[in-house]
Amino acid sequence: MKKKPSALMDKKRAKIISYSELKDLLVPLFKTHRYRLIFGFSALITVDLLQLVIPRLIKKAVDGLSRQSIDQNGLFQVGLAIVAIGILVVILRFCWRYLIIGFSRLLERAIRNRLFGHILKMDAQFFEKYSTGDLMAHLGNDLSAVQMACGMGMVAAADALVMSVAAIAFMIAIDPTLTLLALLPMPFLAISTRILSGKLHKRFATVQEQFADLTEFSRSTLLSIGLIKAYTMENFQGSRFNLLGKAYATANINVAKIQGLISPLASLVGSCGMLMILYFGGRLVINATISLGDFVAFITYLYMLIWPMMAIGWVANLAQRGLTSLGRIQHILNAEPSLKDNSNLPEGIDSKKLGFSLRNLTFTYAAASTPALSSINLEFPPGIYGITGRTGSGKSTLCKLLTRMYPLEDGMLYFADKEVNSLPLAFIRSHIGYVSQEPTLFSDSIAANIRLGRPESSLEEVEQAAKNAAIHADIIEFKDGYNTLIGERGVKLSGGQRQRLGLARALLCDRPILIIDDGLSAVDVATEHDVFNGIKQHLANKTVIIVSNRIKLLSMTDQITILKDGVVETQGTHDELLTRNPLYRTMHDKQMKNNDLGETSAP
Ligand SMILES: Nc1ncnc2c1ncn2[C@@H]1O[C@H](COP(=O)(O)OP(=O)(O)O)[C@@H](O)[C@H]1O
Ligand SMILES: [Mg+2]
Repeated sequence: MKKKPSALMDKKRAKIISYSELKDLLVPLFKTHRYRLIFGFSALITVDLLQLVIPRLIKKAVDGLSRQSIDQNGLFQVGLAIVAIGILVVILRFCWRYLIIGFSRLLERAIRNRLFGHILKMDAQFFEKYSTGDLMAHLGNDLSAVQMACGMGMVAAADALVMSVAAIAFMIAIDPTLTLLALLPMPFLAISTRILSGKLHKRFATVQEQFADLTEFSRSTLLSIGLIKAYTMENFQGSRFNLLGKAYATANINVAKIQGLISPLASLVGSCGMLMILYFGGRLVINATISLGDFVAFITYLYMLIWPMMAIGWVANLAQRGLTSLGRIQHILNAEPSLKDNSNLPEGIDSKKLGFSLRNLTFTYAAASTPALSSINLEFPPGIYGITGRTGSGKSTLCKLLTRMYPLEDGMLYFADKEVNSLPLAFIRSHIGYVSQEPTLFSDSIAANIRLGRPESSLEEVEQAAKNAAIHADIIEFKDGYNTLIGERGVKLSGGQRQRLGLARALLCDRPILIIDDGLSAVDVATEHDVFNGIKQHLANKTVIIVSNRIKLLSMTDQITILKDGVVETQGTHDELLTRNPLYRTMHDKQMKNNDLGETSAP
């Protein structure tokens, strides 16, 4: 099964990181952990050098034996020295692994925090451009590629360099020509490891993707098991599952094929080098140009070179992937929020004038060609306002602009008589309570969900907010009351209950402005009146903006604005609109008729 290329694979986004960006991103982290790195690499290099001593010791023993100049005691001492080196190697290996791999984890954490902090600062437009999946991939795959490159990548590079230089030097010291001959097959190993490890990585990625598909398929099937049974789709789902399982197995087998090639190939190259040594080196021993001990040491050095040669190919891949991933991470870090944020609060803000003023406000979404709102002039001083209009008329856009989710040109929106671009975003948002149509609830207790914006509030305050949102009576019906858990492991709430919970959450924050974007649409008619009275009492002298298509709710507001295709069609009180706006009157007649028919119970 061929996988569609994800947005991350998109060549245009796979920006290559520039040298100065790389320096800015990594150098401070290397500096912070310099002692850790110095000790780590010292340990690593010491291990390498110690390992190189072992063939020298073996040479000593073999030469001693062949010349019969060593006794059993001497052999025991050589053996002891090898064990001592072994112990040192254990200790130092532990040290470098702890220090260097630990460094790569700390580095990963630092970059992840920076990336996450940056993403949190971004505005709605950014999240329209990058999907959740994209961002998760940056936080997952890209960071682990960087971690690998800065951890095992650096280790393997240093290790390979020291080992190969030293081993080759020792070999040359024994016999330069023989060294050249023995090394002839080695470049072949480096190149084939480079190719194979590149392939291996791609195939691993496919395994992960197939596994994700398989898990996602099982998850969604189990979640909608009722639906699947109702449509008797068990066999159909079963056969799709089988296909996904097959693709997953194939992907794993493809990985095994490469893995099965890499190490035999290394032994083959070793064997070829061995052939050279036996054929040419053997002759040197026969001619007594080199000793038997040299001959044995030479073979040991040859085998010591196999890993560094493979490492060269592997490190090249790790470095390349790490750099590509860093490029993508840097691309995200370079993205600037398009919303202006002013960190200084201008003086002279009148806390009694906390309302909005829209002057010729026009707004076009980045992805759209026509404005979602054009030339809107509206005033929202303290009071209760209704906004209505057909789907797509721009009601939600208006709410999102008031909560400062999208950038606006200067001079279009004023808050507390100040141009919004001159105000800190957090200042405006911290004055607004916002209720959306589908409030996000967390798998936590009801009380914790209501406390979201004010975690420190007392239970009395929570209860008061719930009463004002007309949800208290529903809550105490539950066995655990306010401690009732909601979500998958707790109770399921109706749409209306969820919305009233969202409202209680906003009321608890007690902010001067409350914006309800269709957030009461699922509240039943019997409760509507209670909810409205709760809002009104709680928010006397504050600004309340209610987006709704419910005539009953609109009729309780001080002034109603009707939006049509992104412009203000008309404005007025309920009675005024009833007499002069045909759309409003039709809505009214229809909803009243439904009430009379008992489709929804009237209070
Ligand atoms: N993120 C967006 N990107 C592009 N266009 C959008 C976006 N959100 C909404 N729109 C468009 O803006 C218009 C107004 O939408 P909206 O404010 O959601 O209307 P309402 O809330 O009145 O139903 C619609 O034409 C809609 O398709
Ligand atoms: Mg809407």
